[in-house]
Amino acid sequence: MTLLVTGGAGFIGTNFVLDWLAQSDEPVINLDKLTYAGNLESLASLQGDARHVFVPGDIGDSALVNSLLASYRPRAVLNFAAESHVDRSIHSPEDFIQTNIVGTFRLLEAVRAYWSGLAADEKSAFRLLHVSTDEVYGSLGAADPAFTETHRYQPNSPYSASKAASDHLVRAYHHTYGLPVLTTHCSNNYGPYHFPEKLIPLLIVNALAGIALPVYGDGMQVRDWLYVKDHCSAIRRVLQAGRLGETYNVGGWNEKPNIEIVHTICDLLDELVPPATRNLPFASYRALITSVKDRPGHDRRYAIDASKLERELGWTPAETFDTGIRKTVQWYLANPEWVAHVQSGAYRAWVQTQYAAA
Ligand code: NAD
Ligand code: TYD
Repeated sequence: MTLLVTGGAGFIGTNFVLDWLAQSDEPVINLDKLTYAGNLESLASLQGDARHVFVPGDIGDSALVNSLLASYRPRAVLNFAAESHVDRSIHSPEDFIQTNIVGTFRLLEAVRAYWSGLAADEKSAFRLLHVSTDEVYGSLGAADPAFTETHRYQPNSPYSASKAASDHLVRAYHHTYGLPVLTTHCSNNYGPYHFPEKLIPLLIVNALAGIALPVYGDGMQVRDWLYVKDHCSAIRRVLQAGRLGETYNVGGWNEKPNIEIVHTICDLLDELVPPATRNLPFASYRALITSVKDRPGHDRRYAIDASKLERELGWTPAETFDTGIRKTVQWYLANPEWVAHVQSGAYRAWVQTQYAAA
């Protein structure tokens, strides 16, 4: 038994691989292109662990994916690989089209060919789990009910449009070819190993450096936050017991306006590392909050109704926002080297060293 994980050197994929191998001896083949968002240093604790096989490469490289499937004969493929940052998708959408749409299509084709050739028992046990986002549903009004799985697709950014396209392809491969697929739609994740271009890690690392905490527009955009390890447990549960062809929303019922997130992080840092202890010339990190130009087409509110996953599969998150955000801030405080390497770009050099040594 083996899993093929794509994008397993990114934020969520890393957490998934680490959690998986902490609980199971089933090996993981980790295919990742190592874009700027892929960081093998996050997986350093698995060095020398034969259960983790890292393969640098693109999900759109059909020959490579075909050969991995043929050699390792996984019982499931979990597709985390994507371009994932909305702001980058606004500045340069091309990579999002290539990886999220074309890459997913090529992965589906390779998986379909592999799955078609399996013996009957392996064929019926096989799963392709596609990791998607709540952003495909678009933006909610203040009083609208949270997104359910039947909410219409209304993506607003090149990122969410490309994820929506990939979801449609996954769905079509189930309906047309019978490929045994599962799709998850999770809300905003936060936690360890999160690249500091996204809101929560950006706030933590900027505050510690004493530089501005940029709040887009009025800061009243609402996101629904889930601790990354709860997302990983949901994926494990859907893989284990999800109904074929179904989609599952994943969320923690934790809607918060951005400005509240900013205040919470400042307050936690004030408690854990008062500015004076870092020679910073203010009494509270809140002094760094700075309003900046809003994101074009900025979605106002996301909210996930996760009751299908709770009802059908008995999944519930382990963390509240208060416990998860405290763990997250503590993780960044305990891992200054990881942060420094990401900020300096040294994490990419680390990969060179790692391969040179291999
Ligand atoms: P990330 O940007 O941190 O990591 C993406 C990983 O995919 C990186 O390691 C990157 O090197 C790799 N990758 C990119 N293009 C590739 C390609 N063509 N072939 C192989 N590997 C490639 O993203 P993340 O936050 O870990 O998100 C993982 C998945 O979860 C994505 O599909 C994303 O849409 C989805 N998602 C993310 C969130 C969130 O809050 N971060 C929420 C819901 C869903
Ligand atoms: P982000 O972490 O980029 O995730 P997403 O856009 O996928 O929801 O942003 C979360 C929210 O925080 C979003 O409303 C944009 C906002 N934001 C800021 O206000 N300032 C920032 O510097 C960043 C990166 C995001």
